[in-house]
Amino acid sequence: MYRRSSSILTIAAALAFTITVIGGPQRSAEAQKLRNPESPSAESIEEGRRLYARHCASCHGLGGKGDGGMALSGGTPSDLTDDEWDCGETDGEIFTAIRDGVSSDMLAYRDKLSDKQIWHLVNFLRSIGPKPAGKDR
Ligand code: HEC
Repeated sequence: MYRRSSSILTIAAALAFTITVIGGPQRSAEAQKLRNPESPSAESIEEGRRLYARHCASCHGLGGKGDGGMALSGGTPSDLTDDEWDCGETDGEIFTAIRDGVSSDMLAYRDKLSDKQIWHLVNFLRSIGPKPAGKDR
C-alpha cells in the first residue's frame, strides 16, 4: 500500500515537471489563477476592439492574424486567432502577457492601459480566437 501510493506520487511529480518544462518558463501559476472580472458582454468586446485597433493592430493586424507589419525589434507578432498561446491560454495568462509584456517587441501595457481595459482586450481576443481548452469552441 505504502509503496503503491509513493510510486503514484513519483509519477505525479514527473508529470508535473514535464508539464512545467513543456509549458515554458513564462507560464506562472499566479497568472493562471487570475479570474477575468469583466463579463464578455457586447460592450466589453466592442471596447476591446476599439483599444485593439489603436494599440495592437499595427503589429498583430486588424484581424489578429499577426500581419500588421510592424515589430520594433524584428520579432514576429503572434497570430492571436489560433489556439497556440506561447504565454499560456487562460484569460489570466493573456492578461498578464499584455500587462507585463513579453519581450522588446511585445512591450508591457501596464502604464498605458488600466487593468479594466486589458480585460476588455482579453474579451475581444476571445471573440476572434478559440475558447480556452475544455470550454465550447
Ligand atoms: C510593436 C509590435 C507589437 C505591438 C504594438 C503589440 N504586440 Fe503583442 N506581440 C508582439 C510580438 C512580436 C509577440 C510575440 C512574442 C515576442 O516575440 O515578443 C507578441 C505577443 C503577444 C501575445 C502573446 C501571444 C501568445 O501566443 O502567447 C499577446 C496576448 C499579445 N501580443 C497581445 C497584444 C495586445 C493585446 C496588444 C495591444 C495592447 C499588443 N499585443 C501589441 C508584438 C506586438
